Amino acid sequence: MAMHPQAASLLTLILLLATGDGILAVGTPSAIITRTCAAVGRAGGQLGYEYDSCVGALSSDPAAASAKDARELAVVATNLTVANVTSTVLVVEDLVKNLGGCLRYYKEMNRTLEGALGDLRAGRVEAASDKLLEANQDPDKCDVLLFEGSANKNPLGKENIYADWLSQLAYAIASLPAPKPLL
Ligand SMILES: *[C@@H]1O[C@H](CO)[C@@H](O)[C@H](O)[C@H]1NC(C)=O
Ligand SMILES: *[C@@H]1O[C@H](CO)[C@@H](O)[C@H](O)[C@H]1NC(C)=O
Ligand SMILES: *[C@@H]1O[C@H](CO)[C@@H](O)[C@H](O)[C@H]1NC(C)=O
Repeated sequence: MAMHPQAASLLTLILLLATGDGILAVGTPSAIITRTCAAVGRAGGQLGYEYDSCVGALSSDPAAASAKDARELAVVATNLTVANVTSTVLVVEDLVKNLGGCLRYYKEMNRTLEGALGDLRAGRVEAASDKLLEANQDPDKCDVLLFEGSANKNPLGKENIYADWLSQLAYAIASLPAPKPLL
């Protein structure tokens, strides 16, 4: 049985790839990518764009492989930036939304604490304990909000832990048994 022409050219392609002749193996950056990345190379630091990072970033976009000159690579790099900015905007939007929720929780917590202070000063210790226990929930609510957020970031981790601990301490102290009157 004669070989189908398409199968024959596929076989040729595979042989070429295997011997490395004429065709770039998948994953090898094109000459224009390596040349361009070498040209913009800037030493280390946070603002550096090292050769490897440059090749890595450009190679992540299939359009870079077919770029014919540096200008086309500039288009690719700009396009990659657009994609990154789009994802960053989503992160910021999610954070703003959830931090707004945390702001409401903490303002509510503050109001509850003010009430607890009023109760303590008036000698209503039990009512104060109830309010302190209630206030203690708010840092957790903020934490859960950020934990479940799509941004996957919690800029208030430390604050939440401390407000939780401190309000729990106030609750524990307020809930101690009343001291026996001194004789
Ligand atoms: C630009 O980015 C989009 C998606 O992020 C991609 O589909 C397209 O191929 C890219 N074009 C170029 C020229 O890099
Ligand atoms: C954008 O860059 C950030 C920081 O390197 C990275 O975490 C994020 O995944 C990137 N997003 C896209 C879509 O490239
Ligand atoms: C919290 O309450 C105190 C009074 O108990 C007040 O001085 C403070 O401004 C309040 N903070 C906020 C953010 O509401």
